[in-house]
Amino acid sequence: HDPQQDIWKQQVGEAAAKLVEDNMIVGLGTGSTANQFILALGRRVQQGLRIAGAVSSSQASHDLATSMGIPVADLDTYPELDIYIDGADEIDPQLQLIKGAGGALLREKIVASSARRFVVIADTSKLVQRLGLLFPVPVEVVPFAITPVRKRLEALGAVVTTRQRAGQTFITENQNLILDCAFPDGIADPVTLNAHLHAIVGVVETGLFLQMAKQAVIGGADGVHIIQP
Ligand code: A5P
Repeated sequence: HDPQQDIWKQQVGEAAAKLVEDNMIVGLGTGSTANQFILALGRRVQQGLRIAGAVSSSQASHDLATSMGIPVADLDTYPELDIYIDGADEIDPQLQLIKGAGGALLREKIVASSARRFVVIADTSKLVQRLGLLFPVPVEVVPFAITPVRKRLEALGAVVTTRQRAGQTFITENQNLILDCAFPDGIADPVTLNAHLHAIVGVVETGLFLQMAKQAVIGGADGVHIIQP
């Protein structure tokens, strides 16, 4: 745990909160970086910013936003969002992402895909040249299908582990399981891999977020930078 990194997350959270304007419908990501955005947005709301509403990608973000006075509703109320802001585990130069270390990937991807604009926020430790060398790709799977899906993932070259948390099998907010798929040499072609993963019946969603984020707000030793490929 690096205290410097916490400051960078806070800085990008604040920079991202400034992208939100009056009357916008805002999507809230999940994780420690997204939390900094939610806190900064909450402070702006307390200072008089009047957002139309917000949709959250997890219970944790919902609870934090609510505690800050941000009005949170669901996608039935707000099926189209103006902006979605979230962190990531890995970000490549084309802004292809691995997400889901926190296990919220399915709702994150649903909310992200419902937004006109997705801005990814992170500190420099998340920037990579090639995806998959630091984090596995989380794959959310229907429990009934877990064993055949695992075999098919292994046939694609993945080293597969069932996500655990606190000594128990991790269950997502959608009552599914997560198979973490490590690719020891990294991922040469994320688009093709994602298509292969989605072709497996029983796979609900993957943590590869491709061609979704159009802009990154990155914090590091030189301050806050925007990446827009
Ligand atoms: C949650 O499921 C993830 O997709 C997070 O967005 C990701 O793990 C980034 O989290 P941190 O900001 O805590 O690193």
